[in-house]
Amino acid sequence: MKQKIYFCLIFLAVAFRLSAQLWEVPEDKNLRVSPLKFTSETVKKGEAVFMKNCTSCHGMPTKGDFVKLVPSPGDPSTVKFQAQTDGALFYKIATGRSPMPQFKDIVSEDDLWFVISYFRSFNKDYVQPAIDNTKQYVSSVKAKFDITVLTNEKKIQVIATDTLNKPIKGIGIALFIKRYFGNLPLGEERKTNENGVALYDIPKNILGDKAGNVELIAKLNSEAGDYKKSETLAIAIPTSKPSLTQQRAMWNIGFKAPIWLILSYSIVVLTIWGFLFYIVSMLGKLRKAGNDN
Ligand code: HEC
Repeated sequence: MKQKIYFCLIFLAVAFRLSAQLWEVPEDKNLRVSPLKFTSETVKKGEAVFMKNCTSCHGMPTKGDFVKLVPSPGDPSTVKFQAQTDGALFYKIATGRSPMPQFKDIVSEDDLWFVISYFRSFNKDYVQPAIDNTKQYVSSVKAKFDITVLTNEKKIQVIATDTLNKPIKGIGIALFIKRYFGNLPLGEERKTNENGVALYDIPKNILGDKAGNVELIAKLNSEAGDYKKSETLAIAIPTSKPSLTQQRAMWNIGFKAPIWLILSYSIVVLTIWGFLFYIVSMLGKLRKAGNDN
């Protein structure tokens, strides 16, 4: 009986181990292709992303000096990586699998394709599949935003151009105001017209700094790419309120904490230390009294 139970346990352990080794990629993700053309520029950007986020486990490609983890991270220049489609690599880096972190919220979508482009630079036989043109994808390599205020029209204007200064038409751009705790959206996302221009109403009742400045962020719709640009413009009501980090507040650093908090904290600490000294001095007295007898 005991033997049978041991046998079952071993079988389960082996089955678990084997199933854990397979990292399945859904078919549609497997077939996904890069919207960016891989060039020496994307390879260089990918190398930077890799050095910052990946070498700590994967080591230097071609050196095989990856960290000995289970399952093994492996060397990106090897067949194990290179035999996979760009889509499969993208899916794995984006979603991760413990201990490999999930990178889709850590680096941008562009960065993920850059890294794959870097991986492919170690594979002489690699030929990039045709680029995905089905959706308009504007990468940060190609896009440039220009954010200005049209004072007469009372509008904020965002002009989207590519690196050749040609307008990018028909892309969704959302505009935000940077705040301490997240970004405040300024109405609906707008599509650029044939001149690459999108217009937004200047919001009323927004408070800025002393000069009425706020930081605006124009962001591409995430379906269309992940370029963003920020610009500080004087479109808000000037205020002379000290900024949040200058106020005495619970969240601020030690010496800028509220006075009542500093006081009560100090009293508690002093009382506890005082009490400790009292006990120690009493112990000393006890010992002395004992010796005297
Ligand atoms: C904390 C360590 C760690 C970091 C950091 C890390 N990885 Fe990994 N990576 C792993 C491990 C471990 C595996 C194997 C996971 C598995 O098979 O379940 C792996 C697997 C992979 C795979 C799949 C390999 C295959 O054979 O299918 C790719 C692709 C990959 N990593 C790319 C990256 C990239 C790109 C980065 C940086 C953006 C990165 N990794 C950062 C540990 C890490």
